[in-house]
Amino acid sequence: MSDRPGLDDADLEALLGPGAHGYFAGGAGDELTLRDNLDAWRRIALTPRVLVDVSERDLGTTLLGRRRPHPIVVAPMAYQKHAHASGELGTAAAAAATESLYVLSSQTTTSPSAVAEALGPSDRWFQLYVFTDRSVSHDLVAEARESGYEALVITVDFPVAGWRERDKRTGFRVEHPIALNPSGPPLTIEQLFAMHDASLTWDDLAEFAEAAGMPVVLKGVLRADDAERAVEAGAAGIIVSNHGGRQLDTTLAGIDALPPIVDAVAGRADLLVDGGVTRGWDVAKALALGADAVLVGRHVLWGLARGGAAGAEEVLQQLLAELDSTLALLGCPRAADLDASYVGPRRAGEASSWP
Ligand SMILES: Cc1cc2nc3c(=O)[nH]c(=O)nc-3n(C[C@H](O)[C@H](O)[C@H](O)COP(=O)(O)O)c2cc1C
Repeated sequence: MSDRPGLDDADLEALLGPGAHGYFAGGAGDELTLRDNLDAWRRIALTPRVLVDVSERDLGTTLLGRRRPHPIVVAPMAYQKHAHASGELGTAAAAAATESLYVLSSQTTTSPSAVAEALGPSDRWFQLYVFTDRSVSHDLVAEARESGYEALVITVDFPVAGWRERDKRTGFRVEHPIALNPSGPPLTIEQLFAMHDASLTWDDLAEFAEAAGMPVVLKGVLRADDAERAVEAGAAGIIVSNHGGRQLDTTLAGIDALPPIVDAVAGRADLLVDGGVTRGWDVAKALALGADAVLVGRHVLWGLARGGAAGAEEVLQQLLAELDSTLALLGCPRAADLDASYVGPRRAGEASSWP
């Protein structure tokens, strides 16, 4: 058992087998960013205000102009049937039960329309990778649009796969049919990753934004100048993310990259952040530093692996309860009122590098 929750827990490896476990748990290179995603939250201290009436609390936020009951979003994650037989239907049910916004991966082992049916009226966004065969991407977007997905999340940090040594070691193969290759043979991760279009540039975004007919959110931005460019290109939202430490090792953690992006974007697009969120107080820190919402990846996936939809729901319920308790203890009863005054550097002497 690791000293970091959710990182290499021995029971998960036994449950999933080395191939799937390595794929889900792993990161790129020496996995420094994977670990730093967890550590970054711990470097930030909370600074509570006392004697505030916190008897009524409101976790609400606004995303793409719509009021949401809370800021927790289920991150897009590929091949979920390798985590649990219920796959994406399990995490979607958990999202619906907790009123969490659900983002479906385009590398899904359940069709976008079937997931939409499971979600019912619950809110959903669709995540897109642009593949070299662009018609595959366009077909997925069309199915998403027809199935009531409300935004297109285009992931832009994956021109090629990160250097993932666990997958190289295990040779993990995706045995379940996937939406983009429903009747094809099982493919290795490397074959699947080779489908990504490494030539994608800013000039191509308009093609997908237009075809989507829904707001576009760019996922995987870590620089203020790219965030600025995303706003100019018409993005309604930006997800500040290093892809769960799975792409380029030694990048900044999402939360560390966020402050200059908040300044550059200056309210012109919604900002979401992810990487290593495992606690409700992590969520409060993200909001205090200027995010409108956070995505939760592996933490939900491990809930799914251990207990199917109920396991994923339990994880989300606990995060929400922790966020609620954090707001009370911080003396900030409305999540929307969190600001930089509620956070500070952890140790004296770090103040000079504090945003
Ligand atoms: C197993 C796994 C599969 C993922 N698949 C996708 C994907 O298909 N599309 C995508 O945009 N991001 C994908 N991600 C990245 C997540 O959306 C998210 O950015 C990341 O998991 C957040 O970090 P966390 O797992 O520490 O919460 C994946 C992450 C994991 C762990």
